[in-house]
Amino acid sequence: MVQENIEQVRKEIVDFAISNEQTLEQFRIRFLGSKGIVKDLFGELKTVPNEEKRAVGQLLNELRQLAEEKLATAKESLENQQSNASDVDVTRPGEPIPFGSRHPLSLVRSEIIAIFERIGYTVSEGPEIEDDWHNFSALNFPPEHPARDMQDTFFIEKGEREIALRTHTSSVQVRVMESSKPPIRTISPGRVYRNEAISARAHCFFHQIEGLYIDKNVSFADLKQTLDYFAKSLFGEKARIRLRPSYFPFTEPSAEVDVSCTICNAKGCNVCKYTGWLEILGCGMVDPNVLAASGIDPEEYTGFAFGMGIERIAQLKFKVNDLRLYSENDVRFLKQFDGVNF
Ligand code: PHE
Repeated sequence: MVQENIEQVRKEIVDFAISNEQTLEQFRIRFLGSKGIVKDLFGELKTVPNEEKRAVGQLLNELRQLAEEKLATAKESLENQQSNASDVDVTRPGEPIPFGSRHPLSLVRSEIIAIFERIGYTVSEGPEIEDDWHNFSALNFPPEHPARDMQDTFFIEKGEREIALRTHTSSVQVRVMESSKPPIRTISPGRVYRNEAISARAHCFFHQIEGLYIDKNVSFADLKQTLDYFAKSLFGEKARIRLRPSYFPFTEPSAEVDVSCTICNAKGCNVCKYTGWLEILGCGMVDPNVLAASGIDPEEYTGFAFGMGIERIAQLKFKVNDLRLYSENDVRFLKQFDGVNF
């Protein structure tokens, strides 16, 4: 019976293992060659009764198609294997992917953020292009204050609506106070701009981190304690701080904060100019005018604020003595922070 033969050959085709060029050729000759099985079966078609010819012919066509498809797929996958094998030399040494390093300012910013997050501070940000209200007026700068002067500030628009590059991150304080209710505990890292000639000790842009704490009964003692915790976390348990009276329009009273020199252990060296102290930040109690300007009742709430330069802290941690290095992208400088992690 031809039908039975067809079924048997079908199984044989399916089971035939093609693993290399020889077996591929054997398969072709056995099933599809000019003296192959499929051709033989077609020859037997004449012995099939007329009424079955059509159905058997159909089965034979399907059989031939099955064999042809198997041959084509096997051929293609063998060719692929070969081209892979010849293109890739698995014995060649790999090409190392060089790792970058984190920028020192990013390292210091992350560490400072982590220190304040541990005591419940959130991180907030504001725009670098700022209006007069958020950068100056709401912060109690009188209209004729020298900090508003053309020499310090990069103005974008003058006149009715004054738009400038922010000169400090204190602008974010105002934005946070306007948009949230006390208690507020937040730090605001960001880039600031001042119109200064670029030198080793001054730059037209740099980075600050602002801190703001507003609640009922916040006192100057809370400020001192917070800064003491911060200095010890950043510079080590031996670090001490001292506060010197100072002036900022937006805080009253105001202070500048020094940390005991981490380089000479407060013994006196050229970095601390033989005083044993290094200035690291400005701070004070938020002026009642500033609270009121941002919609917080100064009779109910008090708070403190502080602001520091990230470059300054990085300078102390890494002994970088030229501000220009931070923005020149010299890989010889950047590579020195490879693997540094806090
Ligand atoms: N904004 C001040 C500066 O840029 C720093 C500061 C922030 C001082 C908050 C007091 C309170 O110098």
